Amino acid sequence: MNRVVCPGSFDPITYGHLDIIARASTLFDEVVIAVLVNQTKKSLFSVEERLEMITEVTAQYPNVRVDSWRGLLVDYCESNGIGSIIKGLRAVSDFDYELQMSQINYQLKGIETLFMSTAPAHSFLSSSLVKEIASFGGDISSYLPPVIQRRLLDRLSLSRDEG
Ligand code: PNS
Repeated sequence: MNRVVCPGSFDPITYGHLDIIARASTLFDEVVIAVLVNQTKKSLFSVEERLEMITEVTAQYPNVRVDSWRGLLVDYCESNGIGSIIKGLRAVSDFDYELQMSQINYQLKGIETLFMSTAPAHSFLSSSLVKEIASFGGDISSYLPPVIQRRLLDRLSLSRDEG
């Protein structure tokens, strides 16, 4: 079976991620979305919440499943018999970091990384920006599925109430 992992923080999942996942699902027998911990980012949603949200918005793709992992991505690939990683590239600014990661991942365990160019409509989109816009009351409806938008707004209003 031709399987690929689509890794990320997905905090939360956006239409940009969903575009890559949908297109990857037409190229591979199975796409595994892996929620990983990015140690450089502080997350708004727990891993369990992110898994639940991703499962909900990818339910229409029969060959897409969702999983999580704490540790190196290449160890996840090795333990699950997955030989390649797929990543969306939004702009040149993504390239340095993604190239470095792909080279390290190949060097560590021989895992290949394939890059898919993000649809131009999503080239500026990131979960971090969406969270910032939402936290200042901006309109995020074109960036996230409605169910994710609602979860994000609920979480932000909760953190405001607690703060
Ligand atoms: O959505 P993100 O935050 O850009 O995704 C980055 C992520 C989570 C895919 C990356 O940080 C990652 O692979 N983390 C797991 C640890 C790892 O394998 N790091 C790379 C080699 S040092």
